[in-house]
Amino acid sequence: MKVLLIGASGQLGLALQQSQPAGVELLAPDHAQLDVMDVRQLKHWLVERAPELIINCAAYTQVDQAEQESLAAEAVNHQAVKQLAEVAGQTGARVLHISTDYVFDGQANSPYSTAAPCAPLGVYGATKWRGEQALLQALPGQATVIRTSWLYAQHGQNFLQTMLGLMASRSSLSVVVDQIGTPTHCWGLANFLWWAVGRSSLPTVMHWADCGVASWYDFALAIMEEACSLGLLAAPIELLPIASRDYPQAAPRPVYSVLDASQSYRLADLPPTHWRDGLRTTLGLMMATDSSG
Ligand SMILES: NC(=O)c1ccc[n+]([C@@H]2O[C@H](COP(=O)([O-])OP(=O)(O)OC[C@H]3O[C@@H](n4cnc5c(N)ncnc54)[C@H](OP(=O)(O)O)[C@@H]3O)[C@@H](O)[C@H]2O)c1
Repeated sequence: MKVLLIGASGQLGLALQQSQPAGVELLAPDHAQLDVMDVRQLKHWLVERAPELIINCAAYTQVDQAEQESLAAEAVNHQAVKQLAEVAGQTGARVLHISTDYVFDGQANSPYSTAAPCAPLGVYGATKWRGEQALLQALPGQATVIRTSWLYAQHGQNFLQTMLGLMASRSSLSVVVDQIGTPTHCWGLANFLWWAVGRSSLPTVMHWADCGVASWYDFALAIMEEACSLGLLAAPIELLPIASRDYPQAAPRPVYSVLDASQSYRLADLPPTHWRDGLRTTLGLMMATDSSG
């Protein structure tokens, strides 16, 4: 099967490239080769190269910056997705589109089902939510939205990398303790997406996240413990839990954004991975990459 991966150089895009299964012909242009906002380039890759399926990982992902750059976020996360859906509608390609837990307002206290009402708090979440709707409206029966949460990998820009950098250079760090979600390793999501690629029929909206819950503080503490035990970090530092109000950020964030991914685990017959195990897997991949490079 011929698959077009958009956003190939992002953290999820790289994980998909590294886990590409046999039998898939993967087209993975970088941002310069395919800008999703450029309809001429889209037509080149969709019409002339004729992929049967598109995985769209391209997004404006700077959550705080989006509050100042709402037009840029809107252009990539909504308008470009609408345009992608229109061109895919002409070629018949199926689309798997990645979205986010930030489409929810965080007022729930049990995991969000795929049918739960969306009410994003910030610009990033709002533009992603409009992108989801535009895609599903333009491509009924041909597109699936896959929402995920708190993504990280052994490469790219993410909380894990930020924490490891800060923990190596500081003696003390304060981390937010009152936002709850599920850290999700890209490797597991990539594995699930490759399963989805092989299915001709999927639900319209799916959730994929590792299981268990954590605050950013819990996640940071686990990163420190695991990194110390693997020798990636020389010594533990002081880690202080703080409230969101003491760490002002431009974008409002949901206080609770745990996704119910049970339907995906069941359909794909993939056992859920606890986020802490996903973290260990990722740190192991990081060590393997370091020692081979
Ligand atoms: N990161 C998270 O915690 C998280 C959580 C939930 C959901 N998600 C969703 O998961 C998906 C993948 O996220 P990620 O963490 O892998 O993001 P990422 O590392 O920021 O990668 C985003 C990719 O999109 C590309 N891109 C941006 N604008 C583009 C454009 N106009 N045309 C083509 N490519 C463009 C970027 O290329 P350049 O870097 O070259 O611009 C980059 O390769 C996104 O849909 C995101 O909304 C992420």
